[in-house]
Amino acid sequence: MLKDGHGRVVDYLRVSVTERCNFRCQYCMPEKPFSWVPKEELLSYEELFEFIKVCIDGGVKKVRITGGEPLLRDGLDNFIRMISEYKNDIDLALTTNGYLLPKVAQKLADAGLKRLNISLDSLKPEVAQKVAQKDILKTVLKGIEAADKAGLKIKINTVPMQGINDSELCDIIEFCKTRGYAVRFIEFMENDHAKFGAKGYNSTQIQDILKTKYKFEKQERNGTSPSQNYIMDDGYVFGIIEPHKDDFCANCNRIRLTASGVLIPCLYFEDSQSIKEAIKNKDIDKATAILKDVLLNKPEKNRWSENSEISTRAFYETGG
Ligand code: GTP
Ligand code: 5AD
Ligand code: SF4
Repeated sequence: MLKDGHGRVVDYLRVSVTERCNFRCQYCMPEKPFSWVPKEELLSYEELFEFIKVCIDGGVKKVRITGGEPLLRDGLDNFIRMISEYKNDIDLALTTNGYLLPKVAQKLADAGLKRLNISLDSLKPEVAQKVAQKDILKTVLKGIEAADKAGLKIKINTVPMQGINDSELCDIIEFCKTRGYAVRFIEFMENDHAKFGAKGYNSTQIQDILKTKYKFEKQERNGTSPSQNYIMDDGYVFGIIEPHKDDFCANCNRIRLTASGVLIPCLYFEDSQSIKEAIKNKDIDKATAILKDVLLNKPEKNRWSENSEISTRAFYETGG
């Protein structure tokens, strides 16, 4: 069993397979020109898998594939198959912007993927386009439908933003509720790289918007999810992810691996170590030692307010 320096069991690995993305979401991507890490510097699927095996053998039960946009990397279905064949009861999930799903949803399900978390910030084409800086909505909705048809369990992620999509939060709930999808509203995380001036809402403000239409009650926090869930009168459950608080940190069970082999113990923290050389040299003992060291130094909590400690890494680099 993998444990961190604070005694927390770490059984959730988020693996980013690429930092590239076909969207330019205002809350994520820098406005200024930037360049991607060259492909040659990324770990191959086989190399990523070597490390995933170390984690699974150490007790990891949930692997989430992230990006950038993970579906941009060729052969992802084979990578998923490698993981699911290694341990078929692993909770294998993917976080995506949905744009490429119409073509690949069935392939992903056939390869052993079980769950998908998909970003959906608006149901209005022009608003979705403003957020992602690309005409996306029609294709994303087709992608969601394709994933549903393929039998994948769907969670929708929405970032409420002032004056942008705040009038649509109830519509997004309805969209998800009628289709049997979960939805989580994520508090906008301010960052240095994406300076478009978009402003988010905190959890109380999000609840106030939803209270105009719904009655709901807070549920007991259970498990390790960063989401605080609420139950409506009709039994529908939605979540709010509140990164500005640190309520979920006490049960944090996750570490992140980037496509170039950097192991990150906590979102938005600078500290990280690379397993790239160890994996390239097939030195599994060394990679395991680095993993243990990273776990030992995993911070106790998300010190969001202590600005100086927040990493400048963007979500497209860490995989959210
Ligand atoms: P489930 O497996 O469905 O519970 O998904 P998840 O919530 O772990 O994954 P997802 O990729 O959908 O993450 C949603 C968002 O939650 C992330 O993009 C972050 O905004 C936030 N989040 C997830 N983990 C952390 C964390 O460790 N710290 C902080 N601050 N936010 C997190
Ligand atoms: N604040 C809040 N959520 C963000 N995401 C990306 N950047 C931010 C940010 N600055 C969300 C995306 C996606 C999830 C993985 O992270 O909407 O759904
Ligand atoms: Fe791409 Fe996701 Fe970032 Fe949007 S939030 S630009 S979809 S990585």
